[in-house]
Amino acid sequence: MRETTERAWAKLNLSLDVTGRREDGYHDLAMLMQTVSVGDELRLRLRDDGKVFASSNLRFIPGDERNLAVRAALRFFEALGISGQGLQIDIRKEIPVGAGMGGGSADAAAVLRGLNRLYDTPFSRAELERISQQIGSDVAFCVAGGTALAQGRGELLRDLRPMPDCFFALCKPGFSISTPELYQKLDASPVRIHPDTAGLLAAVEAGDLRALCRRMYNVFEDVDDRRLRTVAEIKGRLLDYRALGAVMTGTGSAVFGVFERAEDAERACESLRGEYKFCRTAKPVPRGE
Ligand code: C5P
Repeated sequence: MRETTERAWAKLNLSLDVTGRREDGYHDLAMLMQTVSVGDELRLRLRDDGKVFASSNLRFIPGDERNLAVRAALRFFEALGISGQGLQIDIRKEIPVGAGMGGGSADAAAVLRGLNRLYDTPFSRAELERISQQIGSDVAFCVAGGTALAQGRGELLRDLRPMPDCFFALCKPGFSISTPELYQKLDASPVRIHPDTAGLLAAVEAGDLRALCRRMYNVFEDVDDRRLRTVAEIKGRLLDYRALGAVMTGTGSAVFGVFERAEDAERACESLRGEYKFCRTAKPVPRGE
């Protein structure tokens, strides 16, 4: 087999806590992660000329090593001990960029899964997750996805029971927020409120959607940044439309609400669509799909 296709599902942070600063410059995190049905599609084609590059339907996406998908391929070949193997990665992007939805990480994880298939499964899931750590903090989660608790830099994963069935309304304003910049701002002022991670885990375990939504919280929402006013505004609108809970994902700028009924999620999206760049509904995606 010389080529394959792979879906790359986006992630949402149902909660995000920063529990400390590390000596390596990163932060210790505790995040409840969920894969959602907004996905890029990747086509992987092995090449004989040794070139590893990506192309995409969005022109501003880099085709070289700045793209996590390219880095994933290079790390995969390295781990396999082969040199000079070429790969063309064509990406049809649906996951908004700079949204906190892990688009780059999802693409990188999809490359690892796809190459693992093309090479007849040389690596286990745990081995792919280990390779992921050299690529980016959210890549390990994206290898299998589903519902999980991510700790450490994001690479220590605990699989959880799938979150209760529900509908998401996702909304991203026109601007993006730089991840390192928001971490710096967070470092400048102490985190005052932390999510109740134990309570969130208990709610997932009990299959209690309302208890889960009541506890959704992201420490980055409290950072002093004028753009977060827009985020708070969108959150308020989602709650007006009877979301059980609404929260920013990652370092933003996308916000999502959780709904019991598809009609409510769709109505919320319709009302926000005129004002904000990206609005759509989605469903949770189980692990391994
Ligand atoms: O690992 P990744 O490249 O995705 O991280 C992007 C940036 O986010 C890092 O350069 C760092 O500033 C910040 N980060 C962090 N602690 C983490 C994850 C990311 O400080 N656990």
